[in-house]
Amino acid sequence: MEELKEFNEELRKKNLRGFWEAYQGEVYSEPLSSYEPYLWKWSDVHDAINKAGEVIGLELSSRRVIRLCNPSLKTSVAHTFVLNLQMLKPGEHAVAHRHTNGAIRFVIKGRGAHVVVEGESFEIEEGDFVTTPNWTWHDHINDSDQTMLWLDGLDAPLVRMLQVGFHEPHKEKKQPIFRPEGSALHEFSPIRPNWVRTDSIQPPGYCYKWKDTERVLKSVGERPGDPYDGILLHYVNPLTGGPTLPTLSCGVQMFRPGERTKSHRHTSSAVYHVFRGKGATIIGDERFEWETGDSFVVPLWRFHRHENLTDQEALLFVMTDKPLMDALGFYREERQD
Ligand SMILES: [Fe+2]
Ligand SMILES: [Fe+2]
Repeated sequence: MEELKEFNEELRKKNLRGFWEAYQGEVYSEPLSSYEPYLWKWSDVHDAINKAGEVIGLELSSRRVIRLCNPSLKTSVAHTFVLNLQMLKPGEHAVAHRHTNGAIRFVIKGRGAHVVVEGESFEIEEGDFVTTPNWTWHDHINDSDQTMLWLDGLDAPLVRMLQVGFHEPHKEKKQPIFRPEGSALHEFSPIRPNWVRTDSIQPPGYCYKWKDTERVLKSVGERPGDPYDGILLHYVNPLTGGPTLPTLSCGVQMFRPGERTKSHRHTSSAVYHVFRGKGATIIGDERFEWETGDSFVVPLWRFHRHENLTDQEALLFVMTDKPLMDALGFYREERQD
């Protein structure tokens, strides 16, 4: 034994290590997430952003953002992504920049502000969903008379872990607008000009309007849906039908009055934000009751099921890292009957 200790010490001096030292006799047969499920109440998040609205100006922070921090991870909701709440008051402008992080926005309050992405301005209102993919210039202008609130989702922890993050402020604070409003809608539709490239792994910046989402929900809302996910709509890459971003998949999920889903688990993690309605999600043996404005995270490989026992539809915004797991061949799902 003394001999082995000496050998280990000798190895350490040479910056080497024997496998027998790390091996603790425990080999996990399946994933064990490093973080727990958690639910953030709207009243807490809303109070926090309102207070930030009083004390934080955009000269102090380029974005007025409150981040949801999972107590088991400290700075993010899940190991691969973050979810923030952002406020932009009337007359404010959040300056243009671009970064490796892919980002999405889901508008939860207000109408009439603009998100500018790669030279095109998108007017946004409640329920709209906007992408600002990896390395796209983006800034936010609130030229309306309403305070805007939206969720920001970013793949920041993943980019940090891979150590590939670039960031660049725009030399003008406002990026020039050179694409007429509606360009994306027309160029990236099923009828499109032949110069539009479809071979990029990154989708174009795009705005998915709530009125269109609502129309689809209405049209498919009576269908049986998915036993594990109810009625789940994906915001797909408008050019390819692929995931929202290479790292994140986003969508809107509807649980109908009285709907109870079956339980499943998967190697992707999900964060939900309750856009409208009331219900519960059972994660493992913990029950999380949610209502409008709440957000909660379902860690990877935890059984979960949803319930809407009210007589109103429940609509949730959902963001997952499934595209990442799919791309790397790490996606697995287990279903319960
Ligand atoms: Fe940004
Ligand atoms: Fe799920």
